[in-house]
Amino acid sequence: MPREAVVAELRERDAKILMTFPVTATSHLLAEARARGAYAALEKALRTMTPQQVAKEVTASGLQGRGGAAFPAGRKWAVIQYDDGQPHYLCANADEGEPGTFKDRWILENSPHQLVESMLIAAYALQVRHAFVYMRGEFSAPFRRLQGALDEAYAAGLIGENILGTGFSCDLMIYRGAGSYVCGEASALLSSIEGKRGYPRNRPPRLTVKGLYQRPTVVNNVETLSNVAWIVQHGAEAFKAVGTPKCPGTRLISISGHIARPGVYEIEVGYPWKRLIYDDCGGMLHGAALKCVIPGGISTKVLTAAEIETLNLDPAEVEPAGSSMGSGGMVAIAEGTCMVRLLQVMLRFYHHESCGQCTPCREGMGWLHRLIDRIVDGQGRLDDLDMMARISRLQDGNTICGMGDAAGYATLGILAKYRHEFEHWIREGRSMHEGNLECRRSS
Ligand SMILES: Cc1cc2nc3c(=O)[nH]c(=O)nc-3n(C[C@H](O)[C@H](O)[C@H](O)COP(=O)(O)O)c2cc1C
Ligand code: SF4
Repeated sequence: MPREAVVAELRERDAKILMTFPVTATSHLLAEARARGAYAALEKALRTMTPQQVAKEVTASGLQGRGGAAFPAGRKWAVIQYDDGQPHYLCANADEGEPGTFKDRWILENSPHQLVESMLIAAYALQVRHAFVYMRGEFSAPFRRLQGALDEAYAAGLIGENILGTGFSCDLMIYRGAGSYVCGEASALLSSIEGKRGYPRNRPPRLTVKGLYQRPTVVNNVETLSNVAWIVQHGAEAFKAVGTPKCPGTRLISISGHIARPGVYEIEVGYPWKRLIYDDCGGMLHGAALKCVIPGGISTKVLTAAEIETLNLDPAEVEPAGSSMGSGGMVAIAEGTCMVRLLQVMLRFYHHESCGQCTPCREGMGWLHRLIDRIVDGQGRLDDLDMMARISRLQDGNTICGMGDAAGYATLGILAKYRHEFEHWIREGRSMHEGNLECRRSS
């Protein structure tokens, strides 16, 4: 189909690339996926394109990582050398451990063949013989759905030896983690697949140089990879017609918290924030007023209702506002919510999940957690707040993986904007919002 027709059709479908069909009890199965056009892009890639051409198309599309760091997929892939005589590996990151994030789950449960097909195309482009999906241990339904899709695809000759008679062979398997947040970090995930403790590794070397079993490895998020089939089928130019010039395409946003219609929504990058909350999601629960949002998983800095008033969901607007779109896990928080309690829950999580390798993270998380517990117990001191900010800043850039930085950003973000709530608790020994366990009704 010519590019103009693809773009016109996309616009008619509200610019949806991934969530393009009504979910039914059978829409995840191979027969229905094929009726929607699944595996046509794989055929196109294997029969008409070289691996280099596929990689070039992905680079040209400007596809950015959807796992949190927004690193361009093509740039990561470009590090892989075709003639290095080594095995290469590909791994889809389906750990989805960032609190508030459940958008990859939508793909795994409802559109598993989109991921399988895209991974096979990526494996072809990167000359990978063995590819993995690293999935968090708690994902039971997504595991069953993806395993079912793999079984169907193997039976149809779409995975394994000599795929579609083209001479290209690739095996794809699921590796289930045991529910550790830090195993979602790309290098920890690879250590976990190797059967080792899921500890993040120091860089360099980059994983694309020495990754799984010390071989060149590409780790991409499930959503990032799931875009690949569409890009190959319709072309990089059609992909770039959606979204913004710097960040083309769409994002899956999982939205939860005090919201009338929580769930997963696919939006074009650049979509108005308030339109998502008030039109698509039906506004705040019980008509409450919006207090703030956590834009992309709890590791991204909170933005107040006033700050997002005119913002669009575009990294070019969210980053200058002091936060990031992160993993797409948005939490909408209603007026009346206690930010001290919210930070306490977050710090308990980070402390529990720190793998303990780096002193600033291991000790800092424990310290922050003890300080906030002390405040909530009514024993806090005003200078505890400066101490918390100092500890958070100490973590920035001084740890092996991004978890130390992220926990620090989250703490600093809440302290900067809601310090008065902490001061109130310290002075009065109780929350400013005591008695308000549920979000406040507007009338
Ligand atoms: C503590 C921690 C947890 C992470 N968890 C996830 C995760 O659950 N899923 C994910 O895709 N990326 C996660 N990441 C980011 C990965 O390290 C990596 O950047 C990502 O999988 C790369 O894919 P992308 O370029 O397609 O976004 C995590 C990073 C850190 C530091
Ligand atoms: S920052 Fe924390 S989670 Fe990451 S490697 Fe260091 S101790 Fe482990």
